[in-house]
Amino acid sequence: MSFHIRDRYLYCEGINVKDLQNAVQNSPFYLYSAAQLRANVAAYAEALAGLPARISYAVKANGNLTLLRILRNLGCGATLVSGNELRLALLAGFDPADMMFNGNGKRRDEVALAVQHGVTVNIDSEFDLEHIAAASHAAAARGAARPVDVLLRVNPDIRPDVHPYVATGMRDSKFGIRAEQLPWFLDRLKGEPLLRLVGLHCHLGSTIKDVQVFHDATILMGDLTSSIRQQGFELRYLNLGGGLGIDYERTGEMPTPQALLDALRGQLPDDLTLIVEPGRSIVGNAGVLICCVTGVKRNGDKHFIVTDGSMAALIRPALYSAYHQIGFVEPVNGEPRVFDIVGPVCESADFLGKARMLPTPHEDTGLVVYDAGAYGYAMSSSYNLQLRPAEYLVDGDRVMQIRRAETFEDVALAQSPLSVIMPQ
Ligand SMILES: Cc1ncc(COP(=O)(O)O)c(C=O)c1O
Repeated sequence: MSFHIRDRYLYCEGINVKDLQNAVQNSPFYLYSAAQLRANVAAYAEALAGLPARISYAVKANGNLTLLRILRNLGCGATLVSGNELRLALLAGFDPADMMFNGNGKRRDEVALAVQHGVTVNIDSEFDLEHIAAASHAAAARGAARPVDVLLRVNPDIRPDVHPYVATGMRDSKFGIRAEQLPWFLDRLKGEPLLRLVGLHCHLGSTIKDVQVFHDATILMGDLTSSIRQQGFELRYLNLGGGLGIDYERTGEMPTPQALLDALRGQLPDDLTLIVEPGRSIVGNAGVLICCVTGVKRNGDKHFIVTDGSMAALIRPALYSAYHQIGFVEPVNGEPRVFDIVGPVCESADFLGKARMLPTPHEDTGLVVYDAGAYGYAMSSSYNLQLRPAEYLVDGDRVMQIRRAETFEDVALAQSPLSVIMPQ
């Protein structure tokens, strides 16, 4: 079991989290369970067993180097959305042949890096195609005449039932190419022998609970694949992106990777290799944010638990009104009340949870925000000079620090010395 309560204390695998909190004195911090990470990858591997398929973990969800190395050792590839993520994936030991470079705003230097390493690149727009073509010509001029494998990212015009900020495949979204614009791309690719179109890609969005949308996308993408093949392109891959939700609300009803695959079954052309790009469903429930209670406050009949964790450490509640389950890491016996759980940041959006019935804690009580492993640290900031937290990993009875906390010097010294740029 990864995160569980035993004798009213929170455990991560074999570790009592209160003991860890006392030992590190480094609040707030992120804590991950290696066992949960392995179990999440195993759930995908079992669902995909027997199919020509690849798991390409979306590094954007959590780019901790140690976690990336674990995922690489478990056989995952890496989906990247920036040149720096590509560099990180190389550091983590991913083979460039197992990387996909995605994104609607790749810069020319980032495209050149991907081409240099032989990474498969997704085409998202006309300018993106031109940049990739230019990078392939530049590489050829330097004597590296290997064609660049590319996928066309299709905008499938499918609306999943998710927060609009995490829906990415709708008609008016900034991502991908609308089906009616594909002929221009196909014509252009016919004139570019250094670009080899090997498949199609789409990504519907994130936190998806209803797998029917994946079924619809597979039919659409299967049809597009057939018609593009008729024009002589040898498509080998169908990349359906990521997006499977996790059970933040603890309803017990969230679809599993198996349910996702069941929704696709029968619709997938069998001569295509399926690529899935999960992020959240790999790391989300494998991580928690551990905070300390700074104090309890009453404003009239409204009650607050103020913690040292904030929107700077975990922005999902402020950004998407996202729900995370919240509890304590140790026994708390104070009077039960309805609390908002808030941080110290000078914004009214700075909350971790609203209207939660909890016993009244003491100062310094340990508090846990569950399911914070995805888009938690990855989206953290040092707003209000709240320094980005440390990260720890539990594997059985062992705890490792896998990232140090940001320091005041990290933030303050990046601002100096100031140099004069103009006039020279
Ligand atoms: C192209 C692409 N693939 C995969 C993902 C990962 O999505 P999720 O974390 O919801 O699985 C994202 C994130 O939105 C994405 O943009």
